[in-house]
Amino acid sequence: MTAPAASSNALDMSNYWMPFTANRQFKAKPRIITGAKGMHFTTDDGRTLLDSSAGLWCVNAGHARPEIADAVHRQLMTLDYSPAFQMGQPGAFEFAARLAKLTPEGMDRVFFTNSGSESVDTALKVALAYHKARGEGGRTRFIGREKGYNGVGFGGISVGGLVNNRRQFNGQMLPSVDHLPHTVDIAKNAFSRGLPEHGAEKADVLEGLIALHGADTIAAVIVEPVSGSAGVLPPPKGYLERLRAITEKHGILLIFDEVITGFGRLGTPFAGQFFGITPDLMTAAKGITNGVIPMGAVFVKREVHDALMTGPDNAMELFHGYTYSGHPVACAAGLATLDIYEREGLLTRGASIAQHFEDAVHSLKGRPNVIDIRNVGLMGAVELAPRAGAIGARGMAVLQDCFDSGLLIRNAGDTLVMSPPLIATTDEIDQMVDMLGTVLDRTA
Ligand SMILES: Cc1ncc(COP(=O)(O)O)c(C=O)c1O
Repeated sequence: MTAPAASSNALDMSNYWMPFTANRQFKAKPRIITGAKGMHFTTDDGRTLLDSSAGLWCVNAGHARPEIADAVHRQLMTLDYSPAFQMGQPGAFEFAARLAKLTPEGMDRVFFTNSGSESVDTALKVALAYHKARGEGGRTRFIGREKGYNGVGFGGISVGGLVNNRRQFNGQMLPSVDHLPHTVDIAKNAFSRGLPEHGAEKADVLEGLIALHGADTIAAVIVEPVSGSAGVLPPPKGYLERLRAITEKHGILLIFDEVITGFGRLGTPFAGQFFGITPDLMTAAKGITNGVIPMGAVFVKREVHDALMTGPDNAMELFHGYTYSGHPVACAAGLATLDIYEREGLLTRGASIAQHFEDAVHSLKGRPNVIDIRNVGLMGAVELAPRAGAIGARGMAVLQDCFDSGLLIRNAGDTLVMSPPLIATTDEIDQMVDMLGTVLDRTA
């Protein structure tokens, strides 16, 4: 048996091409994590890091939960794999039924994927197939949003709006996509607590796009209810309501990309419930298995699903799926995760500590270079002014210093992002913010 080397000194790092990482910079000064428990990681040099980002927005119930490990082990010894197509295994049906109890009313049909990116591409395909099945096959256009992150599949980068994720690939995207403007307006909304006051009218740009292209060409609008990867961008008050009203008026499907906001991040199971808005499709991943086994899901309104259930009984309704859709081990991990979420009230716990989190994060106002602070639920961001001619360098310097001093934090360029596991205590939140504040004070 080959165990991973415990120390970066013993690792040959040349073969592994790391994702979304400056590989050469990293390998010159590696940050190696070797263990995790509860709210903490441990590093190869034996230090402890407080996890302020739930891994990558996914470890909502904290690390190394024995209940999940046991369920995974049991499942591996019972049924390690069964074919996803034309065969079923009990765990997938059971997990879908449990999940359907958590989603907004009527969104109770569940398609399993293995990641957020696959969930997004699946949702886009379901939208196309839905319109085609109803005789509106001309609806092929998607509307995404600037600064949106919808994963890295071709569908996801086409509707997404983070320029670096698109530019490198020479414009090879889905052919019919347009974008809404992003909602960031630091001049008017800086240091808003919760949802910003200004900018709901940016949703009305959708009316302009509909006038331009024709409603009968538009399949779906996809947005993150709260943009996460772009640096936590809560929607302006009333914005999502307007998007819902306009899409409904024109027969356009509304897809909420809830890969980050799903599973309790805002203090409700999904963001749709936080905002009181039910989309037509919802993507999820990350917290669905507490991050331990790759898995994603698309939640589909019953009417959308049923529109595809019209052909002969022996015909496949959707020519789509993955070898690992509804994987038995992922479902077992997911079921054990839901047990924890329910037993510990984690999907709503955010609501009870969100005010503390908001106060803590906003206490960093006035620290060097801080130009904005944003928050909603247990998502928080501190935006720094960039260094002259070096966008992202200051954010990266803060990340490195935090890592060296015991805090795992994420940066989106020059924005530091916090999304603690939903088990975080108020003391741990204070500790995160204190550590970040100390680092900000000494970062040039
Ligand atoms: C909103 C959103 N959609 C999709 C994705 C892609 O998920 P994955 O990395 O699992 O493919 C992410 C990942 O961060 C995300 O934040």
